[in-house]
Amino acid sequence: MGQCPRCKAWNSFAEQAEEQKTGGKAKVLEPLQMTGRRQSQKKTPTGFGECDRVLGGGFLSDSFTLLVGDPGIGKSTLALQIALQWAKRDPKKEVFVVSGEESTPQLMGRAERIDICPKNLLLMNAFAIEDIIATIEKYRPSFVVLDSVQTFYSRDYPNPPASLPQIRAVTEQLMHTAKVKSIPILLIGQVTKGGEMAGPQMLAHLVDTVLLFEGDEKHHFRLLRASKNRFGPTSEVGIFEMGERGLQEVKNPSAAFLEGRPKEATGSVLFPFIEGQRAFLVELQALSINSPFGLPKRSSSGFPLQRLALLLAILEKHANIAFASYDVFANVVGGLQVSDPAADLALALALVSSRKQIALPSTIAVFGELGLSGEVRSVAHIDQRIKEAEKMGMQTIILPKTKTKPKSKAKCIVVRSLSEAIAAVQKAF
Ligand code: TYD
Ligand code: MG
Repeated sequence: MGQCPRCKAWNSFAEQAEEQKTGGKAKVLEPLQMTGRRQSQKKTPTGFGECDRVLGGGFLSDSFTLLVGDPGIGKSTLALQIALQWAKRDPKKEVFVVSGEESTPQLMGRAERIDICPKNLLLMNAFAIEDIIATIEKYRPSFVVLDSVQTFYSRDYPNPPASLPQIRAVTEQLMHTAKVKSIPILLIGQVTKGGEMAGPQMLAHLVDTVLLFEGDEKHHFRLLRASKNRFGPTSEVGIFEMGERGLQEVKNPSAAFLEGRPKEATGSVLFPFIEGQRAFLVELQALSINSPFGLPKRSSSGFPLQRLALLLAILEKHANIAFASYDVFANVVGGLQVSDPAADLALALALVSSRKQIALPSTIAVFGELGLSGEVRSVAHIDQRIKEAEKMGMQTIILPKTKTKPKSKAKCIVVRSLSEAIAAVQKAF
């Protein structure tokens, strides 16, 4: 059949021999009890604390990991940096970077920007997975990076690279190599426009770990998370910054995200944000100006636009501050995406500050969810947020009611409603 009647893909059918029905053979059983074999399998750190945090310590010796992200986000750079660290740490063994994406001069140019490459870091320009695996089996490198799954193909299939059968064949063969030869493999995958992985969930099923590399192209911060992890957590996040010499780890995100913040600016409020297991302060900004036309504009970067519209409605209804004749812009500094409802109160106060042209003191942090009746609702991770705000030198924290009295060196102002919060900051104005 040329076209699949269900998904409409062309040439996606692959021939499969029917299995011979013969009698089964009884297998040897093993107790499930931890025997120390799996337990003692050591993870090799990547050389990046931020990456190890996400992986849960590093790469297992036979792990197969997929790294996905938008084009241009820095996947090749991250993978190369990990390979570089790996090669440096164990100079006796070879590390392979297999690229179907870039030419050797391109790769060398990138490597040169980052660091001096050790001799045991080897490049391979190849496309047929059979050749790649034969080379891996011959040289038995200690670590392999493949960039990217969409560029490789198997000679067993007539389909073009990046088609589903090819992606599946390539991934399955690599998985087999990782397990049988006990070589950690890092495979890069592009994400399609809609944020979907090519060959959607299929790829995720075929690997041990899926790492997502995200960020706003226009900014230099990048977040690494695991959406699937057979050997570690999925709740951690690693933070990097793309610089002149590749990716740098961001060990103190609050300080990095607040860099260059003006002391007293209108429309700016600090919010203790929770990302993964970590809290850090981010700056939420609002700008409101008289709208020259009948239809006021609402625009947002990093904060959900619908949520912004909701906050404007709540402000008008419950605090008597109308934005009907104002254009409104919201922004999360650093290119972060903040969809945590705990940011509501902070952005609402930023809107008030911009509208009233009064700056909040720079040592106030705010969090709390806003309800439709203008009430401030409790949120998760309150202690962690307070601690981070305190650590970053905040003197006042405006927050929702908590079960136990918040403990902090900073002055904690508990508010039950939006108008209470506005009154609280007005005293500070
Ligand atoms: P790249 O790793 O090629 O992205 P991907 O593999 O995800 O498509 O990185 C692309 C961007 O990173 C590119 O715009 C150049 C930039 N970059 C730096 O800013 N500094 C550097 O040191 C390097 C190597 C790249
Ligand atoms: Mg790339």
